[in-house]
Amino acid sequence: MSIIKNDFEKQNITKIKDSKNNKKLTMITAYDALFAKLFEEVADMILVGDSLNMSFAGQSDTLSATLDQMIYHTKAVCKGAPSSFVILDMPFGSYINKNEALQNSIKVYRETSAAAVKIEGGEDRADIIEHLTKNSIAVMGHIGLMPQYVRSEGGYKVRGKTQEDINQLVNDAIAVEKAGAFAIVLEGVKTQAAIEITKAVNIPVIGIGAGNVTDGQVLVWSDMLGFFEDFKPKFVRHYMKGAELVKNAVNEYRSDVQNSSFPSKEEEY
Ligand code: KIV
Repeated sequence: MSIIKNDFEKQNITKIKDSKNNKKLTMITAYDALFAKLFEEVADMILVGDSLNMSFAGQSDTLSATLDQMIYHTKAVCKGAPSSFVILDMPFGSYINKNEALQNSIKVYRETSAAAVKIEGGEDRADIIEHLTKNSIAVMGHIGLMPQYVRSEGGYKVRGKTQEDINQLVNDAIAVEKAGAFAIVLEGVKTQAAIEITKAVNIPVIGIGAGNVTDGQVLVWSDMLGFFEDFKPKFVRHYMKGAELVKNAVNEYRSDVQNSSFPSKEEEY
């Protein structure tokens, strides 16, 4: 009984929703048990983002991520951070219509202990989100710059540069909220757009590249810890020089191996 009560208290969607206008939410991505455990105490939500296809699988975009790949990583994250509110990012092609989306979300719930799934799309995908939420799947929306649209849009384009586009984004957010989503990721938009979108809905809006005006922030862990060196998007802050630290440590290890100072007598059996 106590296990059931604890699990419910920890993975509580109501707490996330109630944060709107009360507390800024901190979300971070994780793809494995090791890092998920490090983030567990601090993050309000852990997102198993399909960005793992780029940072872990070395691909140039997120589009080739598969549902099985996402499930594998989500299982690891849930194992490492059992008390966290974990969200699985539904990969490209896994929610092309209402039925596919529901079958695939049920597979996620059956095979992982993720609390929710995330879906990219606004007004155009509201019917899919509604079908999921009506069937007891917790859904986080994702609007603005949507990485799964990169090939069809011809690149990553910052949104909300015109009032017309801001109005579209506001309509997207309202449609996603009406469809029953508990929160929305808002990516790559001008700050004025983020202000209007955040005000337009009663659910938390979690920004990434959307200024500090949203109800919370999300960052990809390998970006914020400075492990990803190829380029630094404008919105990323490096809280650590991860790549430099790792390279220095590995160099030190190699020197120690080469000069036989590792292992020492204390490190022997
Ligand atoms: O895949 C991901 O990591 C994401 C975040 C950028 C929000 O969707």
